[in-house]
Amino acid sequence: MADKSENRCDLMMFGALGDLAQRKLFPALYQLDRVGLLAPQTRVLALARRPLTTEDVRQLLKESISGQLRPEELEAETMERFLSRVGYICFDFDDGTSYERLNEWRKDGGGALIAYMATPPSIYGMIARNLRDHGCCDEHTRAVVEKPIGHDLASSRLINDQLAEVFNENQLFRIDHYLGKETVQNLIALRFANNLFATQWNQNHISYVEITVAESVGIEGRWGYFDEAGQMRDMIQNHLLQLLCLIAMDPPSDLSADSIRDEKVKVLKALRPMTADMIETHLVRGQYTAGTSDGHPVPGYLEEEDAARGSTTETFVALKAEIANWRWAGVPFYIRTGKRMPEKMSQIIIHFKPAPHYIFDPDQKHLANNKLIIRLQPDEGMELQILTKDQGLDKGMRLRQGPLELTFSETFSAKRIPDAYERLLWEVMRGNQYLFVRRDEVESAWRWVDQVMSHWQDPMAHPKRYAAGTWGPVASIAMITRDGRSWYEDA
Ligand code: BG6
Repeated sequence: MADKSENRCDLMMFGALGDLAQRKLFPALYQLDRVGLLAPQTRVLALARRPLTTEDVRQLLKESISGQLRPEELEAETMERFLSRVGYICFDFDDGTSYERLNEWRKDGGGALIAYMATPPSIYGMIARNLRDHGCCDEHTRAVVEKPIGHDLASSRLINDQLAEVFNENQLFRIDHYLGKETVQNLIALRFANNLFATQWNQNHISYVEITVAESVGIEGRWGYFDEAGQMRDMIQNHLLQLLCLIAMDPPSDLSADSIRDEKVKVLKALRPMTADMIETHLVRGQYTAGTSDGHPVPGYLEEEDAARGSTTETFVALKAEIANWRWAGVPFYIRTGKRMPEKMSQIIIHFKPAPHYIFDPDQKHLANNKLIIRLQPDEGMELQILTKDQGLDKGMRLRQGPLELTFSETFSAKRIPDAYERLLWEVMRGNQYLFVRRDEVESAWRWVDQVMSHWQDPMAHPKRYAAGTWGPVASIAMITRDGRSWYEDA
C-alpha cells in the first residue's frame, strides 16, 4: 500500500460546478478518501463562476456525490471529512484578482499543486497563462486537461502550444478516461505478463481483430457539442485508437510512462492512410433514426432536443484499419462505435488463425478458430474460446467450443471495480504519467483521423441511416462480410 502522506496535494478544480466535475471527478475524489488514499492534509479548491459560498458548494457536492454512489458506499463520516477538505472561490477565469485569491489559499497548503481544467479546451491556454502570470504555478505544478484536445491536428497543436508556454510535457496529464478503466489496463498485463499470448500476438497467428464500443444512450442533451464533433472525433480519435494501440503495440522495455507511450506512438504512425478508393470498402458512417432503446421509443438524431435540421454528423462509425508494420501486415482491425446501439458494451475480440492442418469433421471446420474475447464493460472479464472433444461414447471425435472464463467480479469477489477517474486522479496525485496521453500521441491520432475525414465530402461517406436500437447501418455488416467474416454478435 502506498504511503498516503507522500501524496499530499492541493487540487484546484477549474469548472467545479460543471457536469464532468459533479458527475465524475468529485465522486471519484470521495471514493479515494473512502478507501484511504487521500493524504490527511490534501485539499480541494472548487473554482467556478457562480456566486456561492463554500457551504452552498459543499451542500451541492453532497447531493451530487450521493446521487452517483451506491447506498453502501455512502458513509456519513467520510462525506464529512471529504467535504471539509473542499473550499470554494467564485472565479472569473480571465480576471487577475481571481488568481491572486488562489495564492492566498495556497499559502496555507503544501504538497503537489494540481490544476485540473474541467473546462472547455478553448480556455486551457488562458487559464495556464494566468496561472503563470500571477505566480500560481511553478515547474512542479501538474496540469490535468480533458479531451477533446482540438477538433483537428491544427487546432490541437494550438492548444498544446498554449499549454507548452507554461508547462513542460512532464507536467501535463492529458486524460483519456478509457486508459483508467481496469480492464483496459489489464490489456498490458494480459499481453506482457503471459508469454503464451506474447508468442502468438502477430500476423502469423492472428487473422483479424474486432473492437466495438457500443452505447445505448443517444446524445443526452449534448447536441450542440456533439454535432460539432461527431463520433469520429468524440470516440475514434481518442478512446478507440488508444484501445487499438494497446492491442497492437510492441512490448515496452519497462512500465515507465515514456516506454509505453513511445510504443503507442509507433502504432499510430504505422496506421495506413485511407485513400479515396478505400472509403467505400473501409469506412461506414451512420446516423440513428427513431427506434427503440430498452423497449421504449426514442427519437432519431435529427429529432433530438436542440437538433439542427439536416445535420450530416455521424453518430456511428465502422472502419477497417490496417497497421503497416511487420507484426500486423495483412491483419485488419475492424473498429466500430455508435450511439443508440442495442446495449452498452465494449469488447475486443482477437480472432486467431486456424491450425495449419485440419483433421476433424469437415462440417465443423468453421469452429476451428480460437478467439480471445476481452470484455471491457460491462461484466468485465476475458474469455478464451477453445475447442475440446464433445463428451460421450456416441460423439466420436466431435468438437465442442467452450470458454476458459475469467469474470473479474467473480474472481475478485470482494472488490468493486474502481471508476476510471478514481485511478486517473490517484495517478495524477502520484505524479505518474503512464495512463496519460503524450502530445505526440494526440497529434499522431489527429493526423490519421484528419486524413480519413478528408474524404468526408465524398457522397459515399455521408452517413447511412440506422434505427436506434440496432447495431448500425447494414453497410457496416457488409463491410466485414465482404471479407468473409462477421461481427461477433452475428456469428
Ligand atoms: C466520452 C464521450 O469521452 O466517452 C461520450 O465524449 C461517451 O460521448 C463517453 O458517451 C463514453 O464513456 P464510457 O466510459 O461511458 O464508455
